Amino acid sequence: MILNEKLKVYLDYLLKLDPDGTEELYSYLVENKFPVVGRDTAKFLSQIVMIKQPDKILEIGTNVGFSALTMARVLRKGMIYTLDYREDLQNQALENFKKFNVEDKIKLINGRAEKMLFRIDEKFDIIFIDADKRGYPLYLDYAIEHINSDGIILVDNLFWKGSVYSPESFDPPKAAVPTLQEFNKRFSKLNGFKSQLLALGDGLGIAVKMD
Ligand SMILES: C[S@@+](CC[C@H](N)C(=O)[O-])C[C@H]1O[C@@H](n2cnc3c(N)ncnc32)[C@H](O)[C@@H]1O
Repeated sequence: MILNEKLKVYLDYLLKLDPDGTEELYSYLVENKFPVVGRDTAKFLSQIVMIKQPDKILEIGTNVGFSALTMARVLRKGMIYTLDYREDLQNQALENFKKFNVEDKIKLINGRAEKMLFRIDEKFDIIFIDADKRGYPLYLDYAIEHINSDGIILVDNLFWKGSVYSPESFDPPKAAVPTLQEFNKRFSKLNGFKSQLLALGDGLGIAVKMD
């Protein structure tokens, strides 16, 4: 747990995502244990997209498309590529995109990131990493090579439910902890970027590429 439980309840209450429908979908996904971004992270993602109005976004880890549709709803003319190896979830993601009229702004890619990424030789303005933690070092290598100047790399789950900064509280230990601890050290002093870790959701890394 990153935040004090009462503070989290208070912020969740203030942060109800959107009165016109996404909150209902979000609550459904949380209740049914879909691995969706935190409510505060979703709001932050949409704010970053609103400010930057990127031409191209890449998301690694679609699941049923909540974070992608959150970004797409505030994207004026750009395109989001989102990839996931779970073919069985793609229809549900597409239904969610249609429900919020954003299907034209999102391209779904099916396949394993470690393979598919290297077939996408394009540059992006925002890259959002939210998939298997063991793959994070590789996805970061890719992101560094494929982010435009002034582009933003975002990475979710960097605190991994608290296990990264308080590993002794977890028995059995969480397998991804050593990878994420190393990752966070690297990410925090990433050459050519201004980066930091934010206490949002499960820990969100943000790195902005400098010229
Ligand atoms: C935390 S969920 C993504 C949640 C989504 N970003 C959201 O907030 O709505 C992580 C997703 O990454 C996918 N995933 C895990 N490992 C992957 C890999 N190696 N390649 C592609 N997708 C992967 C999983 O299938 C899962 O749907």
